Amino acid sequence: MVAHIRGPMVWIALIVFVLGTATQILQFFWLSRKTARSFAVFDPDRENRVGKLSLHQRISDMAHYFRKTVFVTYPLTMTVSTVFHVCLILLPLFVLGHNELIALSLGHRLPSFPERLSDGLTLVVLLCCSYFFIRRVVLARMRAISSLADYLVLALVGVSFLSGYLAYHQIFDYQSTITIHMLSGELMLMAIPFTKMTHMTFFFFNRFMVIHEHTLGRGERVW
Ligand code: HEM
Ligand code: HEM
Repeated sequence: MVAHIRGPMVWIALIVFVLGTATQILQFFWLSRKTARSFAVFDPDRENRVGKLSLHQRISDMAHYFRKTVFVTYPLTMTVSTVFHVCLILLPLFVLGHNELIALSLGHRLPSFPERLSDGLTLVVLLCCSYFFIRRVVLARMRAISSLADYLVLALVGVSFLSGYLAYHQIFDYQSTITIHMLSGELMLMAIPFTKMTHMTFFFFNRFMVIHEHTLGRGERVW
């Protein structure tokens, strides 16, 4: 059983993640269509206007738009979120334990972070998860729109990192913590394309390609 989780399941998880994400991307293009109509709710003439600005004026134009973003309305949450996402994406790639396994199976390895750095960043991710959890429970407006799935996704991310941390420090029985770690990591990878974690790809489509009032790019597709 453990041999399967350590061996074929890792590949199955990676394949489901890659094919699932590719299917979602294809589906986005099937279900949306390009439109000739360029559309910007707040300032339809922005593109023409910005084209004629000097560098200094462009910077103040960007500052003007930045002041309307969530980075200014919710600075703490957005800082936590940025730190969380950077660590979430970098850690699995540069953790020494992962690169040992990659070297064993492929013969090549990525550079690894120093162990103390990975360990510290793992704790940072766990703190960020706790922040998201407490925020969802404590703020009435967050509680009202939270479903079981939101908590499960958060728990899955939390368990992947917590079990990696416990295994690395050999807290509790190593076989159990590393098995939970591998299982939860694999589940998380497989769940990304099929749960709200699919925002990893849809964030970019939504913000830069689909036309709506929060489009950051020109917006050229409609559903
Ligand atoms: C796909 C299956 C996975 C396998 C087989 C795996 C395997 C491992 C191994 C062997 C270690 C080292 C434990 C030790 O030093 O004894 C480790 C640590 C770690 N893993 Fe994974 N892992 C997987 C998925 C993930 C995922 C998806 C994440 C996060 C997104 C993750 C995050 C971590 C972290 C942060 C550590 C280091 C914790 C620390 O140094 O404090 N792993 N993993
Ligand atoms: C480049 C890829 C990604 C982008 C641009 C992105 C962007 C975002 C944004 C804008 C939010 C909402 C703001 C917030 O509450 O922080 C968010 C929330 C979240 N993201 Fe991502 N994300 C990405 C990848 C991922 C991945 C791969 C995972 C998990 C495997 C993930 C897990 C989460 C979770 C759990 C939350 C919700 C936190 C809460 O409960 O409030 N994200 N992400």
